[in-house]
Amino acid sequence: MFGPATGITLLGLSAAALAAPVQDCYGPQVPFKFPLANGFPNISIPSPELSQIQRTAQGTLPNGGLPANVSANSAEAFKVVAFNEIFEVAYFNALINNITENVPGYVFPDDATKQSVLTKLNAIQAQEQLHALGANAILATNGVEPIEACEYVFPVTNFVDAIALASTFTDVVLGTLQSVDFNLGINRDTELLGLLTSIVAQEGEQDGWFRTIIGKIPSALPFLTAAAGPFAASVLLQTFVVPDTCGNVDTIKVPVFPALSVDTANIQLADQTLSFSFSGNTSTNGLSVVYINQQNVPVVEPLTNVQTSGGKVSFQALFPGDTNLMNGLTLVAVTNSAGPFSGAEAVAAATQYGPGIIEIN
Ligand SMILES: *[C@@H]1O[C@H](CO)[C@@H](O)[C@H](O)[C@H]1NC(C)=O
Ligand SMILES: *[C@@H]1O[C@H](CO)[C@@H](O)[C@H](O)[C@H]1NC(C)=O
Ligand SMILES: *[C@@H]1O[C@H](CO)[C@@H](O)[C@H](O)[C@H]1NC(C)=O
Ligand SMILES: *[C@@H]1O[C@H](CO)[C@@H](O)[C@H](O)[C@H]1NC(C)=O
Repeated sequence: MFGPATGITLLGLSAAALAAPVQDCYGPQVPFKFPLANGFPNISIPSPELSQIQRTAQGTLPNGGLPANVSANSAEAFKVVAFNEIFEVAYFNALINNITENVPGYVFPDDATKQSVLTKLNAIQAQEQLHALGANAILATNGVEPIEACEYVFPVTNFVDAIALASTFTDVVLGTLQSVDFNLGINRDTELLGLLTSIVAQEGEQDGWFRTIIGKIPSALPFLTAAAGPFAASVLLQTFVVPDTCGNVDTIKVPVFPALSVDTANIQLADQTLSFSFSGNTSTNGLSVVYINQQNVPVVEPLTNVQTSGGKVSFQALFPGDTNLMNGLTLVAVTNSAGPFSGAEAVAAATQYGPGIIEIN
């Protein structure tokens, strides 16, 4: 679950200056619904609509034909990729609309800054449309039903928080694409490795810009944090997707976990005790807290100070953040085993609640 960004400045404006009035002024958020004005996600290849997306994206879908012998395991991984890319198109379109329409919280001090930000976001959202169309084209070429869109809501009401959130979900994606790469390798789908790596780098370029906007250095870590399909799907379904609005999400064979809340706010780089909670009345016997950061062996800690009341389990756990230099993204999972875990996939296989999300520097 995501918290708001705090204490950061954008182009001389503080987050507070850009912060929106209380949500109540506008009533409940209206979910984002497809299709876009150009018909996306229903875009024929080729078509005049596709040509226009490509022009805005500054480039084209790969034109050399797609492999038709993709393994079932890799196709599953590409379903998660398509599910995520369609969400990203929704997110960036909603953000562009808010800026374009001068929604409170999304108003820039001058028109030149506004137009410069819109130019970049328009390219990003068109590039995401091509990522989504490409992932679904790989599925269709291999006789697998393409992934359909959902309706979405976004837990942000100002530009700075929206960019901070984009950076965080991009970090989760960049971790998950490592696992897709691993899948492509072990399933011998080698001809897709280059294509996928080109997307990894592209998302990294986006993230560098997001991080710069929110006052961070562009590159978070020497080796970006690993994730896994179940963590990415859980983040999307817990945070953004309106329940029961997805066409065929049930065709994605990936576990989705109940949420884990990180209750300590504004976490800095230090060895410290953090507070967490999840809904339920479950016994915590045999459960562990696991932190995934960079390419390191996941850190396993016991739950302490466990309290159950009102259908909510609260607890604490040590976070050895400074000792392990856990900057950038850390994923937190509550697992039914104390490991040891070889990596993010192994943690996901034992996860009961998660992922909690910590972002430092
Ligand atoms: C998608 O677009 C094609 C051609 O524009 C149209 O024939 C088809 O009905 C559309 N499908 C959906 C699901 O909207
Ligand atoms: C757009 O603005 C509305 C109204 O403040 C907000 O609810 C929504 O989350 C915003 N979307 C994005 C992507 O920033
Ligand atoms: C698909 O065919 C290509 C080219 O023959 C081959 O390199 C690749 O390993 C095949 N993939 C699978 C999963 O069999
Ligand atoms: C937990 O137990 C309480 C009290 O018995 C009950 O009201 C609540 O619905 C339960 N919550 C869950 C998630 O099972």
